[in-house]
Amino acid sequence: MKKCLLPTLTITGFILMSGCTDSISTANKLLQQIQQGQTEIVERNFDPAQITRGRAIFRENCAVCHGPNAEATPNWRKPLENGRYPPPPLDGTAHAWHHSTEELKRFILKGGPPGEGRMPGWEGKLTEQEIEDILVWIKSLWPDEVYDAWYKRIEHRQ
Ligand code: HEC
Repeated sequence: MKKCLLPTLTITGFILMSGCTDSISTANKLLQQIQQGQTEIVERNFDPAQITRGRAIFRENCAVCHGPNAEATPNWRKPLENGRYPPPPLDGTAHAWHHSTEELKRFILKGGPPGEGRMPGWEGKLTEQEIEDILVWIKSLWPDEVYDAWYKRIEHRQ
Protein backbone atom coordinates (compact mmCIF):
# COMPACT_ATOMS: atom_id res chain seq x y z
CA MET A 1 0.00 0.00 0.00
CA LYS A 2 2.65 2.46 1.12
CA LYS A 3 4.65 2.02 -2.06
CA CYS A 4 1.73 3.10 -4.25
CA LEU A 5 0.86 6.12 -2.18
CA LEU A 6 3.57 8.48 -3.41
CA PRO A 7 3.12 7.93 -7.18
CA THR A 8 -0.66 8.14 -6.71
CA LEU A 9 -0.34 11.43 -4.89
CA THR A 10 2.12 12.74 -7.45
CA ILE A 11 -0.15 11.84 -10.34
CA THR A 12 -3.24 13.21 -8.58
CA GLY A 13 -1.35 16.36 -7.74
CA PHE A 14 -0.21 16.69 -11.32
CA ILE A 15 -3.73 16.30 -12.66
CA LEU A 16 -5.14 18.69 -10.06
CA MET A 17 -2.49 21.28 -10.65
CA SER A 18 -1.99 20.96 -14.37
CA GLY A 19 -4.95 23.22 -15.07
CA CYS A 20 -3.68 25.90 -12.77
CA THR A 21 -0.30 27.43 -13.47
CA ASP A 22 -0.59 29.80 -10.51
CA SER A 23 -0.57 27.06 -7.88
CA ILE A 24 2.31 25.33 -9.66
CA SER A 25 4.46 28.42 -9.58
CA THR A 26 3.59 29.07 -5.91
CA ALA A 27 4.49 25.49 -4.97
CA ASN A 28 7.72 25.66 -6.96
CA LYS A 29 8.67 28.92 -5.31
CA LEU A 30 8.14 27.49 -1.83
CA LEU A 31 10.15 24.39 -2.68
CA GLN A 32 12.96 26.57 -3.99
CA GLN A 33 12.98 28.62 -0.80
CA ILE A 34 13.16 25.46 1.33
CA GLN A 35 15.98 24.05 -0.80
CA GLN A 36 17.95 27.27 -0.59
CA GLY A 37 17.39 27.59 3.15
CA GLN A 38 15.58 30.89 2.71
CA THR A 39 12.72 30.20 5.08
CA GLU A 40 12.78 32.71 7.89
CA ILE A 41 14.32 31.97 11.26
CA VAL A 42 11.86 32.36 14.14
CA GLU A 43 12.26 35.52 16.25
CA ARG A 44 12.19 35.39 20.03
CA ASN A 45 10.12 38.23 21.45
CA PHE A 46 10.66 37.43 25.11
CA ASP A 47 9.93 39.92 27.86
CA PRO A 48 13.35 41.04 29.19
CA ALA A 49 11.92 41.37 32.73
CA GLN A 50 10.78 37.73 32.60
CA ILE A 51 14.25 36.63 31.45
CA THR A 52 15.83 38.48 34.39
CA ARG A 53 13.35 36.93 36.84
CA GLY A 54 13.89 33.45 35.40
CA ARG A 55 17.67 33.75 35.66
CA ALA A 56 17.47 34.83 39.33
CA ILE A 57 15.10 31.96 40.27
CA PHE A 58 17.29 29.49 38.39
CA ARG A 59 20.49 30.68 40.07
CA GLU A 60 18.90 30.34 43.49
CA ASN A 61 17.40 26.86 42.99
CA CYS A 62 18.91 25.02 40.05
CA ALA A 63 22.44 26.35 39.50
CA VAL A 64 23.87 24.14 42.26
CA CYS A 65 23.39 21.16 39.91
CA HIS A 66 22.99 22.65 36.41
CA GLY A 67 25.57 25.49 36.71
CA PRO A 68 24.93 29.28 36.92
CA ASN A 69 24.54 29.55 33.14
CA ALA A 70 22.81 26.17 32.75
CA GLU A 71 26.04 24.88 31.22
CA ALA A 72 26.36 21.96 33.70
CA THR A 73 29.35 19.76 32.92
CA PRO A 74 30.85 18.97 29.48
CA ASN A 75 30.91 15.32 30.61
CA TRP A 76 27.14 15.06 30.97
CA ARG A 77 27.06 12.07 28.60
CA LYS A 78 29.35 10.02 30.88
CA PRO A 79 27.71 8.04 33.69
CA LEU A 80 28.93 8.68 37.25
CA GLU A 81 30.43 5.91 39.41
CA ASN A 82 26.95 4.99 40.65
CA GLY A 83 25.83 4.46 37.04
CA ARG A 84 23.64 7.57 37.02
CA TYR A 85 24.11 10.49 34.70
CA PRO A 86 25.12 13.96 35.93
CA PRO A 87 22.70 16.88 35.51
CA PRO A 88 22.71 17.86 31.81
CA PRO A 89 23.26 21.38 30.46
CA LEU A 90 20.00 23.18 29.62
CA ASP A 91 21.62 25.85 27.43
CA GLY A 92 20.94 24.22 24.07
CA THR A 93 24.07 22.02 24.00
CA ALA A 94 22.25 18.92 25.33
CA HIS A 95 18.72 17.68 24.67
CA ALA A 96 16.40 19.78 26.85
CA TRP A 97 15.23 21.36 23.58
CA HIS A 98 13.82 18.01 22.41
CA HIS A 99 10.87 18.67 24.71
CA SER A 100 7.92 21.03 24.44
CA THR A 101 7.34 23.74 27.06
CA GLU A 102 4.54 21.61 28.57
CA GLU A 103 6.80 18.55 28.85
CA LEU A 104 9.62 20.56 30.43
CA LYS A 105 7.23 22.18 32.87
CA ARG A 106 5.79 18.82 33.92
CA PHE A 107 9.27 17.35 34.34
CA ILE A 108 10.42 20.26 36.52
CA LEU A 109 7.26 20.06 38.65
CA LYS A 110 7.43 16.29 39.15
CA GLY A 111 11.18 15.61 38.92
CA GLY A 112 12.42 12.30 37.66
CA PRO A 113 12.88 9.82 36.34
CA PRO A 114 9.99 8.51 38.50
CA GLY A 115 11.04 6.63 41.61
CA GLU A 116 14.73 7.37 41.28
CA GLY A 117 14.67 10.93 42.54
CA ARG A 118 17.56 12.10 40.40
CA MET A 119 16.11 15.46 39.54
CA PRO A 120 14.11 16.86 42.47
CA GLY A 121 10.49 17.86 41.82
CA TRP A 122 9.59 21.50 42.42
CA GLU A 123 5.86 21.21 42.94
CA GLY A 124 4.93 23.18 46.07
CA LYS A 125 8.36 24.88 46.13
CA LEU A 126 8.12 26.98 42.97
CA THR A 127 4.96 28.35 41.36
CA GLU A 128 4.08 27.50 37.75
CA GLN A 129 4.76 31.15 36.91
CA GLU A 130 8.27 30.87 38.36
CA ILE A 131 8.92 27.72 36.32
CA GLU A 132 7.65 29.47 33.19
CA ASP A 133 10.04 32.36 33.94
CA ILE A 134 12.95 29.90 34.26
CA LEU A 135 11.99 28.26 30.95
CA VAL A 136 11.93 31.61 29.13
CA TRP A 137 15.42 32.38 30.45
CA ILE A 138 16.61 28.88 29.39
CA LYS A 139 15.16 29.35 25.89
CA SER A 140 16.85 32.75 25.62
CA LEU A 141 20.20 30.91 25.92
CA TRP A 142 19.64 28.58 22.97
CA PRO A 143 21.46 29.36 19.70
CA ASP A 144 19.20 30.65 16.89
CA GLU A 145 19.18 27.40 14.92
CA VAL A 146 18.39 25.33 18.03
CA TYR A 147 15.49 27.61 18.98
CA ASP A 148 14.25 27.57 15.39
CA ALA A 149 14.30 23.76 15.16
CA TRP A 150 12.64 23.48 18.58
CA TYR A 151 9.91 25.98 17.66
CA LYS A 152 9.11 24.36 14.32
CA ARG A 153 9.64 20.66 15.04
CA ILE A 154 8.85 20.29 18.74
CA GLU A 155 6.67 23.10 20.10
CA HIS A 156 4.50 23.50 17.01
CA ARG A 157 4.82 20.08 15.39
CA GLN A 158 1.82 19.15 13.33
C1 HEC B 1 20.07 17.99 42.90
C2 HEC B 1 20.46 18.34 41.57
C3 HEC B 1 19.46 19.06 40.67
C4 HEC B 1 18.80 20.26 40.93
C5 HEC B 1 18.86 21.14 42.15
C6 HEC B 1 18.02 20.53 39.72
N1 HEC B 1 18.22 19.54 38.80
FE1 HEC B 1 17.41 19.45 36.94
N2 HEC B 1 18.25 17.64 36.62
C7 HEC B 1 19.08 16.99 37.51
C8 HEC B 1 19.45 15.70 36.96
C9 HEC B 1 20.36 14.66 37.61
C10 HEC B 1 18.80 15.59 35.71
C11 HEC B 1 18.83 14.42 34.75
C12 HEC B 1 17.70 13.48 35.05
C13 HEC B 1 17.65 12.33 34.10
O1 HEC B 1 17.03 12.49 33.05
O2 HEC B 1 18.23 11.30 34.40
C14 HEC B 1 18.06 16.84 35.53
C15 HEC B 1 17.31 17.13 34.41
C16 HEC B 1 16.66 18.32 34.19
C17 HEC B 1 15.92 18.66 32.99
C18 HEC B 1 15.73 17.76 31.76
C19 HEC B 1 16.86 18.01 30.80
C20 HEC B 1 16.80 17.21 29.52
O3 HEC B 1 17.80 17.30 28.77
O4 HEC B 1 15.81 16.55 29.24
C21 HEC B 1 15.44 19.92 33.15
C22 HEC B 1 14.62 20.73 32.15
C23 HEC B 1 15.87 20.38 34.45
N3 HEC B 1 16.61 19.39 35.06
C24 HEC B 1 15.57 21.63 34.98
C25 HEC B 1 15.87 22.00 36.29
C26 HEC B 1 15.40 23.23 36.89
C27 HEC B 1 14.58 24.29 36.17
C28 HEC B 1 15.82 23.21 38.18
C29 HEC B 1 15.55 24.24 39.26
C30 HEC B 1 14.16 24.60 39.50
C31 HEC B 1 16.59 21.99 38.38
N4 HEC B 1 16.59 21.28 37.21
C32 HEC B 1 17.23 21.65 39.56
C33 HEC B 1 19.52 17.47 38.73
C34 HEC B 1 19.09 18.62 39.34
